[in-house]
Amino acid sequence: MLVSAKEMLEKAKAGHYAVGQFNINNLEWTKAILLTAQENKSPVILGVSEGAGKYMGGYTTVVGMVNGMLKELGITVPVALHLDHGSYEHCYKCIEAGFSSVMFDGSHYPIEENVEKTKELVKVCNDKGLSLEAEVGSIGGEEDGVVGMGECADPQECKAIADLGVTMLAAGIGNIHGKYPENWAGLSFETLDNIQKLTGDMPLVLHGGTGIPADMIQKAISLGVAKINVNTECQLSFAEATRKYIEAGKDKEGKGFDPRKLLAPGFEAIKATVKEKMELFGSIGKA
Ligand code: 13P
Repeated sequence: MLVSAKEMLEKAKAGHYAVGQFNINNLEWTKAILLTAQENKSPVILGVSEGAGKYMGGYTTVVGMVNGMLKELGITVPVALHLDHGSYEHCYKCIEAGFSSVMFDGSHYPIEENVEKTKELVKVCNDKGLSLEAEVGSIGGEEDGVVGMGECADPQECKAIADLGVTMLAAGIGNIHGKYPENWAGLSFETLDNIQKLTGDMPLVLHGGTGIPADMIQKAISLGVAKINVNTECQLSFAEATRKYIEAGKDKEGKGFDPRKLLAPGFEAIKATVKEKMELFGSIGKA
């Protein structure tokens, strides 16, 4: 059964580790992530962007697929199904479809409007026992066609949103979605520290988990990050493994057109990437 992310993040915060949010794009990715979490006794959050939800045939399809896998694959570790960077309207669509967690990304609204909309969603999510992630300060880079400039959030604005009773808070601290440019300045730990001081026990979320050096990840966890999002790194390892398999001509062996064989190397590559991240985040054995 899907669970809210609240309890797993509170435990992560208390235990000084982070739970990984891995974004899903299709059945193979979902299965790879769920099996890796189960094999490593780790809690996990499956992230679904609006674009990925549409690609997979709509939110209800995603809920059906994930719930089916939890049952058929015997997944017993805590799993949350979470809308990633949702608009206000899509948060409601996902709640209706059976997601156990949503992110309302109101970072592009003036802070007053972000507060107003987040406040309404806090009430709805509380009533239904779902977790809610809010965002302050846009995360840089490009994700699903949405381009953000990347900025450091204002700690006072973070406090205003945290005080509304959200479950977790994503705050821009110089992080970027996708690959980091050569001249990236790194994470602003000063901002992170100031935000955490003002938001108390609020689990903080680090987006753009791809390509952040291990020491920065560990420092971010020590300063209050309890959830780390990874998407691009799974895409890169999936693409690389598939390309190698095809270039080696292995796809021509056997029948030569079996989709299950074609996708198998990418599936294994995602499993390896997810396990590596879970090790780095410290969530292995915590379920
Ligand atoms: P990356 O694509 O950089 O791993 O970021 C993922 C993310 O933050 C999803 O919200």
